[in-house]
Amino acid sequence: MQTLAPIKTGANMPDYNEACANFSWKDVEKAFSWHETEKVNMAYEAIDRHAETWRKNKVALYYSDQKRDEKYTFQDMAFLSNKFGNVLRNIGTEKGDRVFLFMPRSPELYVSMMGILKIGAIAGPLFEAFMEQAVRDRLENSEASVLITTPSLLERVPYNELPHLENIILVGDGEAPEDGDVKFYRFEEEMDKASRDLDIEWVDREDGMILHYTSGSTGKPKGVLHVHNAMIQQYQTAKWVLDLKEDDIYWCTADPGWVTGTSYGIFGPWLNGVSNLIRGGRFSPEDWYGTIEKYRVSVWLSAPTAFRRLMAAGDDVVKQFDLSSLRHTLSVGEPLNAEVVHWGMNVYQLRIHDHWWMTETGGIVIANYPTMPIKPGSMGKPFPGVQAAILDEEGNELSPGQMGRLCIKAGWPSMLRTVWNNEERFNKYFPVKGWFESGDLASMDEDGYFWFEGRDDDVIQTSGERVGPFEVESKLVEHPSVAEAAVIGKPDPVRGHIIKAFVALKDGYEKSDELEEELRKFVKQRLAAHAAPREVEIRDFLPKTRSGKIMRRVLKAWELDQPTGDLSTMEK
Ligand code: WT7
Repeated sequence: MQTLAPIKTGANMPDYNEACANFSWKDVEKAFSWHETEKVNMAYEAIDRHAETWRKNKVALYYSDQKRDEKYTFQDMAFLSNKFGNVLRNIGTEKGDRVFLFMPRSPELYVSMMGILKIGAIAGPLFEAFMEQAVRDRLENSEASVLITTPSLLERVPYNELPHLENIILVGDGEAPEDGDVKFYRFEEEMDKASRDLDIEWVDREDGMILHYTSGSTGKPKGVLHVHNAMIQQYQTAKWVLDLKEDDIYWCTADPGWVTGTSYGIFGPWLNGVSNLIRGGRFSPEDWYGTIEKYRVSVWLSAPTAFRRLMAAGDDVVKQFDLSSLRHTLSVGEPLNAEVVHWGMNVYQLRIHDHWWMTETGGIVIANYPTMPIKPGSMGKPFPGVQAAILDEEGNELSPGQMGRLCIKAGWPSMLRTVWNNEERFNKYFPVKGWFESGDLASMDEDGYFWFEGRDDDVIQTSGERVGPFEVESKLVEHPSVAEAAVIGKPDPVRGHIIKAFVALKDGYEKSDELEEELRKFVKQRLAAHAAPREVEIRDFLPKTRSGKIMRRVLKAWELDQPTGDLSTMEK
Protein backbone atom coordinates (compact mmCIF):
# COMPACT_ATOMS: atom_id res chain seq x y z
CA MET A 1 0.00 0.00 0.00
CA GLN A 2 1.26 3.43 -0.93
CA THR A 3 2.02 5.67 2.03
CA LEU A 4 2.68 9.41 2.06
CA ALA A 5 5.72 10.64 3.93
CA PRO A 6 5.62 13.74 6.17
CA ILE A 7 6.04 17.00 4.26
CA LYS A 8 6.26 20.36 6.03
CA THR A 9 4.91 19.43 9.43
CA GLY A 10 6.25 18.08 12.66
CA ALA A 11 9.66 19.69 12.51
CA ASN A 12 10.14 19.97 16.29
CA MET A 13 8.26 16.91 17.25
CA PRO A 14 9.26 13.47 18.43
CA ASP A 15 8.77 10.54 16.13
CA TYR A 16 5.44 8.74 16.79
CA ASN A 17 6.86 5.62 18.42
CA GLU A 18 9.25 7.62 20.53
CA ALA A 19 6.43 9.94 21.63
CA CYS A 20 4.31 6.94 22.66
CA ALA A 21 7.12 5.29 24.58
CA ASN A 22 7.91 8.36 26.67
CA PHE A 23 4.44 9.80 27.04
CA SER A 24 2.62 10.61 30.26
CA TRP A 25 -0.38 12.92 30.69
CA LYS A 26 1.11 13.94 34.06
CA ASP A 27 4.01 15.54 32.21
CA VAL A 28 1.61 17.52 30.04
CA GLU A 29 0.07 19.08 33.16
CA LYS A 30 3.37 20.80 33.83
CA ALA A 31 2.60 23.16 30.93
CA PHE A 32 -0.03 24.79 33.13
CA SER A 33 0.04 27.14 36.05
CA TRP A 34 -2.03 24.84 38.23
CA HIS A 35 -0.14 21.62 38.41
CA GLU A 36 0.80 22.35 42.00
CA THR A 37 -2.41 24.04 43.22
CA GLU A 38 -4.90 21.74 41.45
CA LYS A 39 -7.18 24.79 41.10
CA VAL A 40 -7.76 25.60 37.47
CA ASN A 41 -9.65 27.71 35.00
CA MET A 42 -9.72 27.04 31.27
CA ALA A 43 -10.27 30.70 30.38
CA TYR A 44 -7.26 31.76 32.42
CA GLU A 45 -5.02 29.21 30.71
CA ALA A 46 -6.39 30.08 27.26
CA ILE A 47 -6.27 33.87 27.57
CA ASP A 48 -4.95 35.54 30.74
CA ARG A 49 -1.86 33.44 31.08
CA HIS A 50 -0.70 34.76 27.69
CA ALA A 51 -1.79 38.32 28.53
CA GLU A 52 0.65 38.18 31.47
CA THR A 53 3.59 37.57 29.12
CA TRP A 54 5.04 39.19 26.00
CA ARG A 55 2.12 37.63 24.13
CA LYS A 56 -0.20 40.28 25.56
CA ASN A 57 0.09 42.28 22.33
CA LYS A 58 -0.09 39.24 20.11
CA VAL A 59 -3.31 38.82 18.15
CA ALA A 60 -5.49 36.17 19.79
CA LEU A 61 -8.49 36.57 17.49
CA TYR A 62 -8.81 37.71 13.91
CA TYR A 63 -12.48 38.01 13.12
CA SER A 64 -14.09 38.61 9.75
CA ASP A 65 -17.47 38.27 8.09
CA GLN A 66 -19.37 40.23 5.43
CA LYS A 67 -19.54 43.30 7.66
CA ARG A 68 -16.66 43.18 10.11
CA ASP A 69 -12.91 42.79 10.00
CA GLU A 70 -11.36 43.08 13.46
CA LYS A 71 -8.53 41.87 15.61
CA TYR A 72 -8.15 41.40 19.34
CA THR A 73 -4.96 40.79 21.29
CA PHE A 74 -4.70 38.41 24.23
CA GLN A 75 -4.80 41.51 26.44
CA ASP A 76 -8.01 42.73 24.76
CA MET A 77 -9.59 39.31 25.21
CA ALA A 78 -8.53 39.20 28.87
CA PHE A 79 -10.17 42.56 29.65
CA LEU A 80 -13.30 41.90 27.60
CA SER A 81 -13.90 38.48 29.10
CA ASN A 82 -13.29 39.91 32.58
CA LYS A 83 -15.97 42.46 31.84
CA PHE A 84 -18.38 39.82 30.67
CA GLY A 85 -17.66 37.71 33.74
CA ASN A 86 -18.68 40.74 35.81
CA VAL A 87 -21.83 41.23 33.70
CA LEU A 88 -22.85 37.68 34.54
CA ARG A 89 -22.02 38.04 38.22
CA ASN A 90 -23.92 41.33 38.39
CA ILE A 91 -27.10 39.59 37.30
CA GLY A 92 -26.58 36.83 39.86
CA THR A 93 -24.96 34.08 37.84
CA GLU A 94 -22.99 31.60 39.92
CA LYS A 95 -20.51 28.79 39.54
CA GLY A 96 -22.15 25.72 37.97
CA ASP A 97 -25.07 27.65 36.42
CA ARG A 98 -25.73 26.81 32.79
CA VAL A 99 -25.27 29.80 30.51
CA PHE A 100 -26.21 29.21 26.89
CA LEU A 101 -24.96 30.91 23.76
CA PHE A 102 -27.24 31.07 20.75
CA MET A 103 -25.81 33.41 18.18
CA PRO A 104 -23.81 33.56 14.97
CA ARG A 105 -20.04 33.60 15.15
CA SER A 106 -18.81 37.03 16.29
CA PRO A 107 -16.14 38.37 18.66
CA GLU A 108 -18.92 38.79 21.27
CA LEU A 109 -19.54 35.05 21.17
CA TYR A 110 -15.89 34.28 21.99
CA VAL A 111 -15.70 36.99 24.65
CA SER A 112 -18.90 35.63 26.23
CA MET A 113 -17.63 32.07 26.19
CA MET A 114 -14.47 33.07 28.06
CA GLY A 115 -16.45 35.21 30.52
CA ILE A 116 -18.76 32.31 31.32
CA LEU A 117 -15.82 30.02 32.06
CA LYS A 118 -14.02 32.64 34.13
CA ILE A 119 -16.83 32.69 36.72
CA GLY A 120 -17.00 28.89 36.79
CA ALA A 121 -20.36 28.69 35.01
CA ILE A 122 -21.01 25.97 32.42
CA ALA A 123 -21.21 27.13 28.81
CA GLY A 124 -23.79 25.66 26.43
CA PRO A 125 -23.11 26.66 22.82
CA LEU A 126 -26.00 26.26 20.38
CA PHE A 127 -25.66 26.19 16.61
CA GLU A 128 -27.18 29.35 15.14
CA ALA A 129 -29.27 27.38 12.62
CA PHE A 130 -31.32 25.69 15.34
CA MET A 131 -35.04 26.34 15.19
CA GLU A 132 -37.46 26.46 18.10
CA GLN A 133 -37.70 22.77 18.92
CA ALA A 134 -33.93 22.27 19.00
CA VAL A 135 -33.44 25.34 21.19
CA ARG A 136 -36.25 24.38 23.54
CA ASP A 137 -35.01 20.79 24.04
CA ARG A 138 -31.56 21.95 25.04
CA LEU A 139 -32.53 24.83 27.33
CA GLU A 140 -35.15 22.69 29.00
CA ASN A 141 -32.90 19.70 29.62
CA SER A 142 -29.98 21.75 30.93
CA GLU A 143 -32.23 24.03 33.02
CA ALA A 144 -30.22 26.97 31.74
CA SER A 145 -30.72 30.21 33.69
CA VAL A 146 -29.01 32.63 31.29
CA LEU A 147 -29.11 32.89 27.51
CA ILE A 148 -26.97 35.13 25.33
CA THR A 149 -28.54 35.63 21.93
CA THR A 150 -29.39 38.23 19.29
CA PRO A 151 -32.70 40.04 18.83
CA SER A 152 -33.31 38.30 15.51
CA LEU A 153 -32.77 34.80 16.94
CA LEU A 154 -35.02 35.51 19.91
CA GLU A 155 -38.13 34.50 17.99
CA ARG A 156 -36.87 30.91 18.11
CA VAL A 157 -36.56 30.96 21.91
CA PRO A 158 -39.80 30.07 23.76
CA TYR A 159 -38.53 31.94 26.82
CA ASN A 160 -41.88 32.24 28.56
CA GLU A 161 -42.23 28.48 28.55
CA LEU A 162 -38.81 27.80 30.11
CA PRO A 163 -39.24 28.13 33.88
CA HIS A 164 -35.51 28.04 34.67
CA LEU A 165 -34.53 30.75 32.22
CA GLU A 166 -34.20 33.99 34.19
CA ASN A 167 -32.02 36.30 32.14
CA ILE A 168 -31.48 36.98 28.46
CA ILE A 169 -28.60 39.10 27.25
CA LEU A 170 -29.14 40.51 23.76
CA VAL A 171 -26.18 41.24 21.54
CA GLY A 172 -26.64 43.89 18.82
CA ASP A 173 -29.46 46.16 17.77
CA GLY A 174 -33.12 45.29 17.95
CA GLU A 175 -36.12 45.41 20.23
CA ALA A 176 -36.18 43.65 23.61
CA PRO A 177 -39.64 42.43 24.55
CA GLU A 178 -41.06 43.48 27.90
CA ASP A 179 -43.52 40.70 28.57
CA GLY A 180 -43.11 37.69 30.81
CA ASP A 181 -40.85 36.82 33.75
CA VAL A 182 -37.54 36.86 31.95
CA LYS A 183 -35.26 39.87 32.45
CA PHE A 184 -33.62 41.30 29.36
CA TYR A 185 -30.24 43.03 29.23
CA ARG A 186 -28.26 44.63 26.45
CA PHE A 187 -24.78 43.21 25.99
CA GLU A 188 -23.22 46.53 24.93
CA GLU A 189 -24.76 48.52 27.81
CA GLU A 190 -23.83 45.98 30.48
CA MET A 191 -20.29 45.67 29.12
CA ASP A 192 -19.85 49.47 29.26
CA LYS A 193 -20.79 49.48 32.94
CA ALA A 194 -18.74 46.46 33.97
CA SER A 195 -15.27 46.60 35.49
CA ARG A 196 -12.38 45.07 33.57
CA ASP A 197 -10.99 43.57 36.76
CA LEU A 198 -12.36 40.23 37.79
CA ASP A 199 -11.59 37.69 40.46
CA ILE A 200 -11.42 34.51 38.46
CA GLU A 201 -13.27 31.57 39.95
CA TRP A 202 -10.64 28.90 40.54
CA VAL A 203 -12.40 25.59 40.07
CA ASP A 204 -11.48 21.94 40.53
CA ARG A 205 -10.20 20.25 37.42
CA GLU A 206 -13.25 17.97 37.53
CA ASP A 207 -15.75 20.85 37.64
CA GLY A 208 -18.14 21.23 34.69
CA MET A 209 -17.02 23.51 31.87
CA ILE A 210 -19.03 22.97 28.71
CA LEU A 211 -22.17 21.14 27.69
CA HIS A 212 -22.44 20.03 24.06
CA TYR A 213 -25.72 18.50 23.00
CA THR A 214 -25.36 15.73 20.49
CA SER A 215 -27.60 13.20 18.79
CA GLY A 216 -27.91 9.48 19.18
CA SER A 217 -30.10 7.08 17.23
CA THR A 218 -32.93 7.25 19.76
CA GLY A 219 -34.27 9.81 22.19
CA LYS A 220 -33.75 13.53 22.53
CA PRO A 221 -30.27 15.03 22.14
CA LYS A 222 -27.93 14.27 25.01
CA GLY A 223 -26.00 16.87 26.97
CA VAL A 224 -22.38 15.72 26.94
CA LEU A 225 -20.56 17.34 29.87
CA HIS A 226 -16.86 18.18 29.69
CA VAL A 227 -14.75 19.47 32.59
CA HIS A 228 -11.82 21.87 32.86
CA ASN A 229 -9.43 18.91 32.96
CA ALA A 230 -10.08 18.50 29.20
CA MET A 231 -7.51 21.24 28.65
CA ILE A 232 -4.71 18.73 29.11
CA GLN A 233 -5.78 16.80 26.02
CA GLN A 234 -6.86 19.81 24.00
CA TYR A 235 -3.52 21.52 24.59
CA GLN A 236 -1.34 18.56 23.72
CA THR A 237 -3.33 17.37 20.69
CA ALA A 238 -3.42 20.92 19.30
CA LYS A 239 0.34 21.02 19.71
CA TRP A 240 1.10 17.68 18.13
CA VAL A 241 -1.78 16.91 15.77
CA LEU A 242 -2.58 20.45 14.64
CA ASP A 243 1.18 21.05 14.84
CA LEU A 244 0.63 24.57 16.20
CA LYS A 245 3.65 26.83 16.54
CA GLU A 246 4.23 30.34 17.81
CA ASP A 247 3.94 32.11 14.45
CA ASP A 248 1.03 30.20 13.05
CA ILE A 249 -2.20 31.72 11.83
CA TYR A 250 -4.69 28.98 12.49
CA TRP A 251 -8.13 28.65 10.94
CA CYS A 252 -10.77 26.14 12.00
CA THR A 253 -13.91 26.41 9.88
CA ALA A 254 -16.23 24.72 12.39
CA ASP A 255 -18.92 26.60 14.30
CA PRO A 256 -18.64 26.54 18.13
CA GLY A 257 -22.14 25.06 18.21
CA TRP A 258 -20.29 21.82 17.41
CA VAL A 259 -17.48 20.37 19.47
CA THR A 260 -14.81 20.90 16.80
CA GLY A 261 -15.59 24.62 16.97
CA THR A 262 -14.84 24.74 20.70
CA SER A 263 -12.15 22.11 21.39
CA TYR A 264 -10.16 23.16 18.30
CA GLY A 265 -11.87 26.44 17.34
CA ILE A 266 -11.18 27.98 20.77
CA PHE A 267 -9.40 25.93 23.42
CA GLY A 268 -6.69 24.05 21.49
CA PRO A 269 -5.23 27.06 19.67
CA TRP A 270 -5.48 29.49 22.60
CA LEU A 271 -4.03 27.07 25.13
CA ASN A 272 -1.03 27.09 22.80
CA GLY A 273 -1.05 30.90 22.58
CA VAL A 274 -1.64 30.83 18.83
CA SER A 275 -3.46 33.45 16.70
CA ASN A 276 -6.89 32.14 15.86
CA LEU A 277 -8.85 33.21 12.80
CA ILE A 278 -12.63 33.08 13.01
CA ARG A 279 -14.80 33.61 9.97
CA GLY A 280 -18.57 33.91 10.11
CA GLY A 281 -20.92 32.18 7.72
CA ARG A 282 -20.63 29.30 5.33
CA PHE A 283 -18.19 29.41 2.47
CA SER A 284 -17.67 29.17 -1.26
CA PRO A 285 -14.37 27.90 -2.72
CA GLU A 286 -13.38 31.52 -3.47
CA ASP A 287 -14.05 32.49 0.16
CA TRP A 288 -12.01 29.60 1.48
CA TYR A 289 -8.99 30.28 -0.67
CA GLY A 290 -9.39 34.06 -0.40
CA THR A 291 -9.31 33.75 3.39
CA ILE A 292 -6.15 31.66 3.38
CA GLU A 293 -4.46 34.16 1.08
CA LYS A 294 -5.61 37.29 2.93
CA TYR A 295 -4.71 36.15 6.44
CA ARG A 296 -1.71 34.02 5.43
CA VAL A 297 -3.29 31.03 7.15
CA SER A 298 -0.68 28.38 7.92
CA VAL A 299 -2.71 25.66 9.65
CA TRP A 300 -6.17 24.87 8.35
CA LEU A 301 -8.71 22.49 9.87
CA SER A 302 -11.89 21.70 7.97
CA ALA A 303 -14.22 18.81 7.10
CA PRO A 304 -14.30 16.26 4.28
CA THR A 305 -17.40 17.88 2.84
CA ALA A 306 -15.43 21.11 2.39
CA PHE A 307 -12.50 19.36 0.73
CA ARG A 308 -14.85 17.46 -1.56
CA ARG A 309 -16.54 20.69 -2.58
CA LEU A 310 -13.17 22.26 -3.29
CA MET A 311 -12.19 19.23 -5.33
CA ALA A 312 -15.44 19.51 -7.31
CA ALA A 313 -14.77 23.21 -7.91
CA GLY A 314 -11.71 22.22 -9.96
CA ASP A 315 -8.03 23.05 -9.85
CA ASP A 316 -8.23 26.33 -11.77
CA VAL A 317 -9.70 28.22 -8.86
CA VAL A 318 -6.73 27.11 -6.73
CA LYS A 319 -4.37 28.82 -9.14
CA GLN A 320 -6.09 32.19 -8.68
CA PHE A 321 -4.92 32.39 -5.07
CA ASP A 322 -1.61 32.47 -3.25
CA LEU A 323 -1.80 29.57 -0.84
CA SER A 324 1.92 29.50 -0.10
CA SER A 325 1.36 30.26 3.61
CA LEU A 326 -0.34 26.87 4.13
CA ARG A 327 1.85 24.40 5.97
CA HIS A 328 -0.57 21.91 7.50
CA THR A 329 -4.13 20.84 6.62
CA LEU A 330 -6.48 18.65 8.59
CA SER A 331 -9.88 17.06 8.16
CA VAL A 332 -12.36 15.65 10.65
CA GLY A 333 -16.01 14.71 11.11
CA GLU A 334 -16.57 12.07 8.45
CA PRO A 335 -14.47 9.64 6.45
CA LEU A 336 -11.91 11.41 4.28
CA ASN A 337 -11.77 9.53 0.99
CA ALA A 338 -8.31 8.43 -0.15
CA GLU A 339 -9.08 10.14 -3.45
CA VAL A 340 -9.33 13.50 -1.69
CA VAL A 341 -5.98 12.98 0.03
CA HIS A 342 -4.34 12.29 -3.34
CA TRP A 343 -6.02 15.33 -4.84
CA GLY A 344 -4.72 17.44 -1.92
CA MET A 345 -1.19 16.23 -2.64
CA ASN A 346 -1.55 17.36 -6.25
CA VAL A 347 -3.07 20.78 -5.76
CA TYR A 348 -1.66 21.91 -2.39
CA GLN A 349 1.45 19.72 -2.29
CA LEU A 350 0.34 18.91 1.25
CA ARG A 351 -1.09 15.92 3.01
CA ILE A 352 -4.61 16.40 4.38
CA HIS A 353 -4.42 14.87 7.86
CA ASP A 354 -7.51 12.89 8.77
CA HIS A 355 -8.14 12.32 12.46
CA TRP A 356 -10.91 10.83 14.53
CA TRP A 357 -12.80 11.80 17.64
CA MET A 358 -16.33 12.72 18.66
CA THR A 359 -18.31 15.01 20.94
CA GLU A 360 -17.99 12.49 23.75
CA THR A 361 -14.20 12.22 23.54
CA GLY A 362 -13.78 16.01 23.93
CA GLY A 363 -10.54 15.93 22.00
CA ILE A 364 -8.62 14.05 19.33
CA VAL A 365 -7.94 10.40 20.16
CA ILE A 366 -6.87 8.92 16.80
CA ALA A 367 -4.83 10.87 14.27
CA ASN A 368 -2.48 10.95 11.38
CA TYR A 369 0.33 12.28 13.45
CA PRO A 370 2.38 14.82 11.43
CA THR A 371 5.65 12.92 11.69
CA MET A 372 4.30 9.57 10.57
CA PRO A 373 3.56 8.14 7.13
CA ILE A 374 -0.08 8.49 6.07
CA LYS A 375 -2.07 5.71 4.49
CA PRO A 376 -4.70 7.63 2.50
CA GLY A 377 -8.18 6.61 3.66
CA SER A 378 -7.07 5.72 7.19
CA MET A 379 -7.81 7.83 10.29
CA GLY A 380 -4.33 7.17 11.67
CA LYS A 381 -3.14 5.82 15.01
CA PRO A 382 -4.09 6.46 18.64
CA PHE A 383 -2.64 9.63 20.13
CA PRO A 384 0.21 8.89 22.56
CA GLY A 385 -1.30 8.05 25.95
CA VAL A 386 -4.55 6.85 24.35
CA GLN A 387 -5.42 3.20 23.91
CA ALA A 388 -7.87 2.31 21.12
CA ALA A 389 -9.06 -1.16 20.14
CA ILE A 390 -11.53 -3.02 17.98
CA LEU A 391 -13.74 -5.14 20.22
CA ASP A 392 -16.45 -7.68 19.52
CA GLU A 393 -19.81 -7.74 21.30
CA GLU A 394 -18.38 -9.57 24.32
CA GLY A 395 -15.50 -7.15 24.66
CA ASN A 396 -12.82 -9.38 23.17
CA GLU A 397 -10.10 -7.64 21.23
CA LEU A 398 -10.25 -8.53 17.53
CA SER A 399 -7.23 -9.25 15.36
CA PRO A 400 -5.91 -6.86 12.73
CA GLY A 401 -8.15 -6.70 9.67
CA GLN A 402 -11.31 -7.73 11.50
CA MET A 403 -14.18 -5.27 11.64
CA GLY A 404 -15.73 -4.53 15.01
CA ARG A 405 -16.60 -1.84 17.51
CA LEU A 406 -14.20 1.04 17.86
CA CYS A 407 -13.56 1.48 21.59
CA ILE A 408 -11.26 3.71 23.64
CA LYS A 409 -9.80 2.73 27.00
CA ALA A 410 -11.57 4.95 29.55
CA GLY A 411 -9.56 7.59 31.35
CA TRP A 412 -8.15 9.95 28.73
CA PRO A 413 -8.19 13.53 30.11
CA SER A 414 -11.01 14.98 27.94
CA MET A 415 -13.45 12.09 28.23
CA LEU A 416 -17.09 13.08 28.83
CA ARG A 417 -17.90 13.05 32.53
CA THR A 418 -21.64 12.51 32.32
CA VAL A 419 -24.73 12.93 30.21
CA TRP A 420 -26.63 15.82 31.76
CA ASN A 421 -29.47 14.55 33.93
CA ASN A 422 -29.08 11.07 32.49
CA GLU A 423 -26.55 8.90 34.28
CA GLU A 424 -28.14 5.81 32.79
CA ARG A 425 -27.39 6.97 29.24
CA PHE A 426 -23.84 7.80 30.31
CA ASN A 427 -23.34 4.28 31.61
CA LYS A 428 -24.43 2.86 28.26
CA TYR A 429 -21.25 4.23 26.72
CA PHE A 430 -19.35 1.65 28.75
CA PRO A 431 -20.93 -1.74 27.97
CA VAL A 432 -17.57 -3.44 28.49
CA LYS A 433 -15.90 -2.51 31.75
CA GLY A 434 -13.21 0.10 31.32
CA TRP A 435 -13.90 0.75 27.63
CA PHE A 436 -15.80 3.60 26.01
CA GLU A 437 -17.83 2.42 23.02
CA SER A 438 -17.96 4.98 20.23
CA GLY A 439 -20.80 3.58 18.15
CA ASP A 440 -18.49 3.42 15.12
CA LEU A 441 -17.44 0.28 13.31
CA ALA A 442 -13.81 0.14 12.26
CA SER A 443 -10.82 -2.12 11.83
CA MET A 444 -7.14 -1.85 12.63
CA ASP A 445 -4.45 -3.03 10.21
CA GLU A 446 -1.19 -4.86 10.88
CA ASP A 447 0.66 -1.57 11.30
CA GLY A 448 -1.79 -0.23 13.88
CA TYR A 449 -3.65 2.19 11.57
CA PHE A 450 -7.41 2.51 12.10
CA TRP A 451 -9.91 2.38 9.22
CA PHE A 452 -13.46 3.68 9.54
CA GLU A 453 -16.28 1.46 8.34
CA GLY A 454 -19.52 3.14 9.35
CA ARG A 455 -21.78 3.78 12.30
CA ASP A 456 -23.01 0.84 14.32
CA ASP A 457 -26.28 2.70 14.90
CA ASP A 458 -28.47 4.87 12.67
CA VAL A 459 -26.79 8.19 13.46
CA ILE A 460 -26.23 10.27 10.31
CA GLN A 461 -23.17 12.38 9.53
CA THR A 462 -24.23 14.94 6.93
CA SER A 463 -21.77 17.59 5.76
CA GLY A 464 -19.75 16.85 8.89
CA GLU A 465 -22.68 17.42 11.26
CA ARG A 466 -24.25 14.75 13.39
CA VAL A 467 -28.00 14.26 13.12
CA GLY A 468 -30.10 11.76 15.06
CA PRO A 469 -32.85 10.18 12.94
CA PHE A 470 -35.21 10.20 15.90
CA GLU A 471 -35.28 13.99 16.19
CA VAL A 472 -36.13 14.39 12.52
CA GLU A 473 -38.75 11.62 12.65
CA SER A 474 -40.33 13.18 15.75
CA LYS A 475 -40.63 16.47 13.95
CA LEU A 476 -42.13 14.87 10.83
CA VAL A 477 -44.85 13.08 12.75
CA GLU A 478 -45.95 16.40 14.22
CA HIS A 479 -47.15 17.36 10.75
CA PRO A 480 -50.92 16.75 10.49
CA SER A 481 -50.56 14.54 7.40
CA VAL A 482 -47.91 12.18 8.76
CA ALA A 483 -48.75 8.86 10.37
CA GLU A 484 -45.20 7.49 10.57
CA ALA A 485 -41.74 8.50 9.50
CA ALA A 486 -38.32 6.90 9.20
CA VAL A 487 -35.11 8.71 8.40
CA ILE A 488 -31.86 7.34 6.97
CA GLY A 489 -28.52 8.65 5.74
CA LYS A 490 -28.11 8.14 2.00
CA PRO A 491 -24.56 8.25 0.63
CA ASP A 492 -23.78 11.43 -1.29
CA PRO A 493 -20.55 12.22 -3.14
CA VAL A 494 -20.12 15.70 -1.64
CA ARG A 495 -21.99 15.73 1.67
CA GLY A 496 -20.97 12.26 2.82
CA HIS A 497 -24.61 11.48 3.50
CA ILE A 498 -27.85 13.29 2.88
CA ILE A 499 -30.94 12.84 5.01
CA LYS A 500 -33.73 10.91 3.35
CA ALA A 501 -37.15 10.59 4.99
CA PHE A 502 -39.73 7.92 4.31
CA VAL A 503 -43.21 8.86 5.35
CA ALA A 504 -46.56 7.07 5.57
CA LEU A 505 -49.60 9.37 5.51
CA LYS A 506 -52.71 9.42 7.62
CA ASP A 507 -56.01 8.49 6.02
CA GLY A 508 -57.41 11.31 3.97
CA TYR A 509 -54.03 12.62 2.74
CA GLU A 510 -52.69 12.06 -0.77
CA LYS A 511 -49.11 11.72 -1.93
CA SER A 512 -47.93 14.74 -3.95
CA ASP A 513 -44.73 16.61 -4.78
CA GLU A 514 -46.09 19.65 -2.95
CA LEU A 515 -46.66 17.68 0.23
CA GLU A 516 -43.14 16.21 0.08
CA GLU A 517 -41.75 19.73 -0.27
CA GLU A 518 -43.95 20.96 2.58
CA LEU A 519 -42.58 18.24 4.87
CA ARG A 520 -39.01 19.22 4.03
CA LYS A 521 -39.77 22.81 4.94
CA PHE A 522 -41.61 21.76 8.07
CA VAL A 523 -38.45 20.21 9.53
CA LYS A 524 -36.25 23.00 8.24
CA GLN A 525 -38.30 25.72 9.89
CA ARG A 526 -38.88 23.96 13.17
CA LEU A 527 -35.75 21.90 13.87
CA ALA A 528 -32.78 23.11 11.81
CA ALA A 529 -31.84 23.51 8.16
CA HIS A 530 -29.03 20.94 8.35
CA ALA A 531 -31.48 18.40 9.84
CA ALA A 532 -34.09 18.81 7.10
CA PRO A 533 -34.38 15.84 4.74
CA ARG A 534 -33.14 16.63 1.22
CA GLU A 535 -35.36 13.86 -0.03
CA VAL A 536 -38.82 12.92 1.18
CA GLU A 537 -40.54 9.85 -0.14
CA ILE A 538 -44.15 9.12 0.69
CA ARG A 539 -44.83 5.38 0.84
CA ASP A 540 -47.92 3.26 1.45
CA PHE A 541 -46.32 1.57 4.43
CA LEU A 542 -43.02 1.44 6.32
CA PRO A 543 -41.34 -1.89 7.11
CA LYS A 544 -41.67 -2.79 10.79
CA THR A 545 -40.70 -5.45 13.23
CA ARG A 546 -43.53 -7.44 14.79
CA SER A 547 -43.04 -5.36 17.90
CA GLY A 548 -43.77 -2.26 15.83
CA LYS A 549 -40.28 -0.78 15.47
CA ILE A 550 -39.67 0.79 12.07
CA MET A 551 -36.76 -0.97 10.35
CA ARG A 552 -34.55 1.82 9.09
CA ARG A 553 -31.95 -0.65 7.88
CA VAL A 554 -34.48 -2.28 5.53
CA LEU A 555 -35.44 1.07 4.05
CA LYS A 556 -31.79 1.84 3.59
CA ALA A 557 -31.14 -1.47 1.84
CA TRP A 558 -34.11 -0.94 -0.47
CA GLU A 559 -32.94 2.58 -1.23
CA LEU A 560 -29.43 1.45 -2.07
CA ASP A 561 -30.45 -1.75 -3.87
CA GLN A 562 -28.57 -3.81 -1.33
CA PRO A 563 -29.45 -7.11 0.30
CA THR A 564 -31.90 -6.56 3.17
CA GLY A 565 -30.36 -9.16 5.47
CA ASP A 566 -32.45 -11.02 8.00
CA LEU A 567 -36.16 -10.18 7.62
CA SER A 568 -37.46 -12.81 10.03
CA THR A 569 -38.65 -10.20 12.51
CA MET A 570 -40.42 -8.13 9.87
CA GLU A 571 -44.18 -7.81 10.03
CA LYS A 572 -45.72 -9.14 6.82
C1 WT7 B 1 -18.89 10.92 14.67
C2 WT7 B 1 -18.84 11.90 15.79
C3 WT7 B 1 -14.78 14.93 15.41
C4 WT7 B 1 -15.63 15.96 16.01
C5 WT7 B 1 -16.75 16.35 15.10
C6 WT7 B 1 -17.79 15.28 14.95
C7 WT7 B 1 -17.74 10.53 12.70
C8 WT7 B 1 -15.59 11.80 13.11
C9 WT7 B 1 -14.30 10.93 11.61
C10 WT7 B 1 -13.28 10.50 10.71
C11 WT7 B 1 -14.80 8.94 9.84
C12 WT7 B 1 -15.56 10.30 11.53
C13 WT7 B 1 -17.85 9.23 13.47
C14 WT7 B 1 -18.05 9.69 14.90
N1 WT7 B 1 -16.34 10.88 12.47
N2 WT7 B 1 -14.36 11.84 12.59
N3 WT7 B 1 -12.06 11.05 10.72
N4 WT7 B 1 -13.58 9.50 9.84
N5 WT7 B 1 -15.80 9.31 10.64
O1 WT7 B 1 -18.24 14.92 16.22
O2 WT7 B 1 -20.68 15.23 15.84
O3 WT7 B 1 -19.79 13.91 17.81
O4 WT7 B 1 -19.66 13.01 15.48
O5 WT7 B 1 -18.34 11.52 13.50
O6 WT7 B 1 -18.97 8.51 13.04
O7 WT7 B 1 -18.72 8.76 15.70
P1 WT7 B 1 -19.64 14.30 16.39
